[in-house]
Amino acid sequence: MKSIKVMSVFGTRPEAIKMAPLVKELAARQNVQSLLCVTAQHRQMLDSVLNIFQLHPDYDLDIMEQRQTLTTITSKALLGMEHVLEQAKPDLILVHGDTTTTFAGALAAFYHQVPIGHVEAGLRTWDRYSPFPEEMNRTMVGDLAALHFSPTNANADNLQRESVMGEVFVTGNTVIDAMATTVQENFRFTEPLLNELDYTGRRLVVVTCHRRENYGEPMQNIMRAIRRMVQMHPDIDVVYPVHLSPVVRECAFGILSGVPHVYLIDPLDVEQMHNLMARCYMVMTDSGGLQEEAPAMGKPVLVMRRETERPEAIAAGTAQLAGVEEEQVLALANELLNDPETYHKMAKAINPYGDGHACRRIADAIEWHFGMRPEKPENFSTEK
Ligand code: UD1
Ligand code: UDP
Repeated sequence: MKSIKVMSVFGTRPEAIKMAPLVKELAARQNVQSLLCVTAQHRQMLDSVLNIFQLHPDYDLDIMEQRQTLTTITSKALLGMEHVLEQAKPDLILVHGDTTTTFAGALAAFYHQVPIGHVEAGLRTWDRYSPFPEEMNRTMVGDLAALHFSPTNANADNLQRESVMGEVFVTGNTVIDAMATTVQENFRFTEPLLNELDYTGRRLVVVTCHRRENYGEPMQNIMRAIRRMVQMHPDIDVVYPVHLSPVVRECAFGILSGVPHVYLIDPLDVEQMHNLMARCYMVMTDSGGLQEEAPAMGKPVLVMRRETERPEAIAAGTAQLAGVEEEQVLALANELLNDPETYHKMAKAINPYGDGHACRRIADAIEWHFGMRPEKPENFSTEK
């Protein structure tokens, strides 16, 4: 029986979380050799995910630098990948989403004429600089890829409209698959503070913020809005695991440290993060991943960005685009904290992003593409 080598390439925390269940699914397939190459664009935040999911990379480019630039990430990853591709000779490489690792990994594979599968394909804002550089990263990878794994129908429609070459599959988002293993009843946190919080008597707001296009004034506005919010509501706690980017840390600690009931902590491992979100009242974030996870847990999300490539949760009423102006972010947060009707309308568990079977569909689609399976997998649909 034919067998193929599939190499997954990723480098940052969100890619790792969303690719981990797929790497495992591929490894469980008899006719697939599942290889893993990490660029380590993120070092600590990546290693935390590898550790939780017990993944052991075959190749580690270890490229991260403090205050790295888009150019250094791209060039180091591209150069490192050359050697890896020559040695491993994969039949397919898989990249995920829209980071600079995603783009450099795909470009390296293209230069070696290795077909590319793009997981989380077809998300768009149609604004070249927002999110930056992610919108162009994913668009360029869309041009390079042969297999496009779109989480939703709308994402697949975007690709059809662009007339991308190759096959488009609607699979659901693999993050929903990942959550099936991380969220646990009676979870005990390893971060002591999180076992001490009063989750029933007080309301918990989980905050994250890291996007490059929010650096500077938008991020300062967001931090000021959070400071005012916590001062206006004595019954809330804010837990904010601060991204390791020095730009983010300077801003967050500069404005929020010492504010009572604001807990600025180091990034959490993904199990703690998901279980913390499962206990919260609401989420305020500019993260892509949190916009998908919170709705699946029935938690309202304020998206602190000017736009989003994830309109599904907004259409479903679980997420709201809050922008990056202090007054607007504060006003929307206050509405959710003051008005039970608004809150309950938003706090409904919906799953527009997946049913937990995305990895199976992707692995099936790969086997189908290589002639190892007669049937194309059925698309994910929220209608079922
Ligand atoms: C990157 C992605 C972004 C994704 C985000 C997820 C690009 C251009 N951006 O942004 O799409 O949403 O990851 O978090 O690919 N750092 C550490 N240790 C770590 C991780 C980061 O010290 O484990 C610090 C380093 O100083 C690094 C800086 O954070 O230089 C920024 O990291 P980088 O990957 O360039 O950008 P992110 O903002 O993390
Ligand atoms: N996350 C985590 N620990 C944290 C903050 C976030 O494990 O302290 C997880 C989060 O649950 C989601 C992913 O990291 O799965 C999102 O990553 P990030 O916000 O860095 O990137 P984005 O999704 O915006 O690209």
